[in-house]
Order: sequence, then structure tokens, then C-alpha cells
Amino acid sequence: MTDRRSEIRNAYKQTGGHASFYDGMMTYSTFPGKAICRIVWNMDGDKNAAYLERALSGVPEGFAGKLLEVPVGTGVLTMPVYRSLPGADITCLDYSPDMMAAAQARAERMGIGNARFVQGDVGALPFDDGHFDVVLSLNGFHAFPDKEAAWRETCRVLRPGGTFCGCFYVQGGCARTDWFIKHLYQPKGFFTPPYETEASLKTRLSKLYAEVDVTCFEGIACFRCRKAAL
Ligand SMILES: C[S@@+](CC[C@H](N)C(=O)[O-])C[C@H]1O[C@@H](n2cnc3c(N)ncnc32)[C@H](O)[C@@H]1O
Repeated sequence: MTDRRSEIRNAYKQTGGHASFYDGMMTYSTFPGKAICRIVWNMDGDKNAAYLERALSGVPEGFAGKLLEVPVGTGVLTMPVYRSLPGADITCLDYSPDMMAAAQARAERMGIGNARFVQGDVGALPFDDGHFDVVLSLNGFHAFPDKEAAWRETCRVLRPGGTFCGCFYVQGGCARTDWFIKHLYQPKGFFTPPYETEASLKTRLSKLYAEVDVTCFEGIACFRCRKAAL
């Protein structure tokens, strides 16, 4: 088992006993969370851990550069990783102050002192061009309302040669997931169309980035790519 995978597994354990519903679902660590992963996403614990490991694979172990995570949500997936990156300069951004407050409290509890938290919109990022070495986006693009602005801004703030990576829902990977998104998640406002497919994501990323890698786990696409050097 790699260090990254064990970090994710440890996060599941830490979150387990006192997890909120959301955290339990994201980490496959509570009974209702596991049920949702299996029923909606057709994923068991191993598949869930595998997609998270893949989605985070663009953040090198021992990374010590500038990283932007957008959206950070409650930080349940990434704070265990950040705890192992004391030399990194980490910026976490989310639109929701409530989600971000949970992430900030988690960082404080875990003794993470090298992460700052910024409330904002992915479509208008308050950072200079090329500021970050890595931009990480977990489960965000299916939620962002203005996806074109999000693609543009995440690319703008990444330095040439930097890595863009993460994951989100794509249509067509699992028929059951597509049904739940359309009839439940979308009406509730958790997800916002239009959605990418695996093929459309590869095409989109290839126009903006080099070394594009897209790997799908059921209805979740994990991606990693590099912004072309100047
Ligand atoms: C499904 S959660 C994912 C959170 C986290 N990355 C994770 O995987 O657990 C989606 C997040 O996107 C945030 N969000 C939605 N629209 C946004 C926007 N325009 N700018 C920044 N964050 C946004 C929401 O507040 C929410 O925290």
C-alpha cells in the first residue's frame, strides 16, 4: 500500500466515529455513507480509495511548492494529505463559508499551520496569473455553476509547467449514477449541468494542457495534466 493510500485510509478512520453525513459519504466511513457510495456510485471501499488516490496523484509526496485547492469543502479528503506536506504553501478556497469553516477547524485540530483559507468564487480567483505550482480540484466541476469561467481561472492561476489534477462526476460512466444525478442531486442543487463525459473531458483538457491523463472509476473521472511551459 502506498503512503498516499494509507493517508486516505487513515482519514477514513479518523473521520469514522464522529463523521458528519457528508464526510462519511466522501470517505466511505459510515453506514449511510457506504450505502450511498454503493447504491449511487456503484463503488465499494477499495474502488473509492482507488479513485481518491488517483485524483490526488498529481500532488507529489513531499511537495513543497504553492498549491491551490478549489473547492476545499470540509477538507475531509485533503487535510490528512496536507499534514504530510509541512513545506508546502497551501491555499484553500470555497464559495461556502460553512463548508470552509469545517475545513479550517479540521486543519486547526490536525495542527496544520501552512494552509490559509479564502472564501471566493472559482470563476473569479483572487490570485495572480501563474501563481501556483499545483491546482487541485476534487469533486468541484460538477457543482460549479459557471464551468467555462472555472476552467479559465484554474488554468490562469497555474504556472507554465504546473500540474492541474483532481476528479469529478462525468456522464455515461455508470447508468445508475446518471439516474440519481438527474433525478436527485441536480434538483437538490448539489450538481449543476452541463456535465462532461470521459471523451469530452479528454478533448477539453487536451486543448488547454499537455500530458493529459484521464482515468474513470464508474461515474467519476480522475484527471492529471500539465500546463505547457512557455
Ligand atoms: C461536492 S463539494 C466538494 C468539496 C471537496 N472538494 C470534497 O471533495 O469533499 C462541492 C463544493 O463546491 C463548492 N462550490 C460550488 N460552487 C463554487 C464556486 N463557484 N466557487 C467555489 N466553490 C464552489 C461548494 O461550496 C462545495 O463546498
